[in-house]
Amino acid sequence: MRQLKLKLLAVAAAAVWTGSVSAQSVEVLHWWTSGGEAAALGVLKKTLEADGIKWNDMPVAGGGGEQAMTALRARVTAGNPPTAVQMLGFDIQDWAKQGALGDLNALAAKEGWDKTVPAALQRFSKYNGKWIAAPVNVHSTNWVWANKAVLDKAGVKDLPKTWDEFMAAADKIQKAGLVALAHGGQPWQEATMFDGVVLSTGGIDFYRKALVELDDKSLNSPTMEKVFARMSQLRKLVDKDFSGRDWNLATAMVISGKAGFQIMGDWAKGEFINAKKVPGKDFVCFRVPGSQGMVSFNSDQFAMFKVGADKADSQMKLAKAIMDPAFQSAFNVVKGSVPARTDVPNKAFDDCGKKGMADLAEANTKNTLIGSMAHGHSVPASIKNAFYDVITRHFNGDLNDKQAVAELAKAAKN
Ligand code: BGC
Repeated sequence: MRQLKLKLLAVAAAAVWTGSVSAQSVEVLHWWTSGGEAAALGVLKKTLEADGIKWNDMPVAGGGGEQAMTALRARVTAGNPPTAVQMLGFDIQDWAKQGALGDLNALAAKEGWDKTVPAALQRFSKYNGKWIAAPVNVHSTNWVWANKAVLDKAGVKDLPKTWDEFMAAADKIQKAGLVALAHGGQPWQEATMFDGVVLSTGGIDFYRKALVELDDKSLNSPTMEKVFARMSQLRKLVDKDFSGRDWNLATAMVISGKAGFQIMGDWAKGEFINAKKVPGKDFVCFRVPGSQGMVSFNSDQFAMFKVGADKADSQMKLAKAIMDPAFQSAFNVVKGSVPARTDVPNKAFDDCGKKGMADLAEANTKNTLIGSMAHGHSVPASIKNAFYDVITRHFNGDLNDKQAVAELAKAAKN
């Protein structure tokens, strides 16, 4: 009788134990709230749920992640960080420096991340030799998205390869009575266009000197003045309602044929795909004219925060799932980005995705791969935000081209 009682107790204990395992969960903070982004996030949620892990969603809308980072600071200050946080470049390093992030080294060693993740990403995923974040993708910012029917209607036969050809095509679209450039007037969106314009105007060495090394001579140069002159040209291509518009609503203008072009990172492709549009048929993707062969990249990584022992196992399962090659293919096909691993086949990707993968590989070998300033991969947030401010003030007519150059150089010194 006593033995039976003990047995029953053991069974009951096991049931409680299994119960607690199935109650495993992760809380994930992110800013993926547009249609395409939510669809991509759904792929990750489903993968985890299939693993028996509950997904507690913490979305904080706002492109570039500024609002998400503010929400994060509040949670960490309260001593209650989420399990994992979508994060960009220098922000990851900042949190690591503060000792807030966990240690993924055992998993990384077991899964061979050192060998499969490009060095340009590892520079942000590791701190003092320790893996602290799992990279889910590589995006790049120097892309143009165009509506094919609009180009046809406006009589734009060839895709523009130079800046002047781009301006000529934009002029034709305006003359056809349509908006040439779909844009949302938010600082991060203007900075995103700026990435591409700097590459196109000054080339890769200029970009590196000015926006990575913060070389004063490059910042304060005739080339930079030309960059701002080109930003002024772009300003004339947007519609009157651009102010404050979300990026995905600007993409929707291209999707619906109201506008011809959008200069935006390849998360825009996620919106086209989500709207069931086909690359090459309904829309086309090409590099910001003049920046062919160069890639300004940003990588969404999930920074893993220090969590209690009860959450450690599900956190590792999340990291493992993110780094799985099959998952990276499925996720990035929907997101518009390309895998953060070099060993994922391009088979499942559409033409823009295949081009993105090939461009990335080529830029990596030719040393024309560079961190996006607009998306936190060239300078820390304090300088990035000071740059945003100058670029936006200029775009809104508060600074002329010359003043903007001087202000940008000043901002780099802060
Ligand atoms: C992120 C993308 C995201 C985009 C717009 C970028 O900073 O890297 O994943 O889709 O912002 O929200």
